[in-house]
Amino acid sequence: MNLYFMILAGGIGSRMQSPELPKQYLKIDNEPIIVKTIRNFIDFGSFRAGVICCPVDWIEYTKALLLEYNIPDDIVYVVPGGKNRNSSVQNGCCFLTKTFNVDNDDVILTHDAVRPFIDSRIIKDNISAVNEYGAANTVMPVYDSVIRTSTGDFLSEHLPRKELFRVQTPQSFRLMELDNVINSLSEDELEEYTDVASIFADRGFRVRLVEGKDSNIKITTPFDMAVAESIINNSP
Ligand code: CTP
Repeated sequence: MNLYFMILAGGIGSRMQSPELPKQYLKIDNEPIIVKTIRNFIDFGSFRAGVICCPVDWIEYTKALLLEYNIPDDIVYVVPGGKNRNSSVQNGCCFLTKTFNVDNDDVILTHDAVRPFIDSRIIKDNISAVNEYGAANTVMPVYDSVIRTSTGDFLSEHLPRKELFRVQTPQSFRLMELDNVINSLSEDELEEYTDVASIFADRGFRVRLVEGKDSNIKITTPFDMAVAESIINNSP
C-alpha cells in the first residue's frame, strides 16, 4: 500500500479580502500557510508523493516557494487546480494516476491548503480508517445549537445537535476509487458538493468518521488570521 497526499490550494480566497495574494500564500509565524500545511505531511514521513493543486496563474510562484522553503521536489508536485474544489481534486487524481503505478489499495489524504494545524495523530487516524473501512472524513462535534430556516428570516426547524458534526479535512480514500467517483460527477454536482466524503456517502460507500481537533481551523477570513496567530503563540 502506497500513501499519497493532495493539497487543495486552487481557490483565490475571496472572503479573506486579500486580492493581491490568495490566502494560502499569506504568512503566519513568518511562513506561508501552504508551506506549513505541506510540512506536516512531509514530516510524517510515510508518503510516496504529494500533489499541490493551485491556481493556474500561481503555479510558478508555488514551485519557487517550495524551493525557497526546502520542500523536496521529488515528493511534492504542483499541478493546476480547477474552477471549483472538486475539479481541483479531479486534476490532482489525474496527475497521480498517470504519473505513478497506482494499486487498488493505495490511499490518498485530501487536505485544504488553508488548514495548517493538522497533526500526525489526525493523519495516522485517517490512514487507519481508510485501510479498515475504505473512506474517512475528519469531523468535530457541533457546540452551538443548530437550526434550519427555509426562508432565511424565520426559524423552520430545530436540529438534534448530537447527530451533527462540522466537517474538517483530511478526507481520505482509496486513490483509484476517488479517481472513479470524482470523474463520475456531472458539472452541476462538481459545483454543488462542498465535501468529497459526502459524495462517497451518497454513492453508497461507508465513510468512517475520524475526530479532528479545534485548532484544525480552515483559515477563511481576516479574523481567522488572528485566530491562527493566537494558536501559534499558545502552542507548546
Ligand atoms: N480550493 C481548490 N480549488 C478551487 C477552490 C478551492 O483547491 N477551485 C481549495 C482552496 O484553495 C482551499 C480549500 O479548497 O484550500 C477550501 O476552500 P475555501 O476555504 O472555500 O477557499 P477559497 O475558495 O479560496 O475561499 P473563498 O470561498 O473565500 O473564495
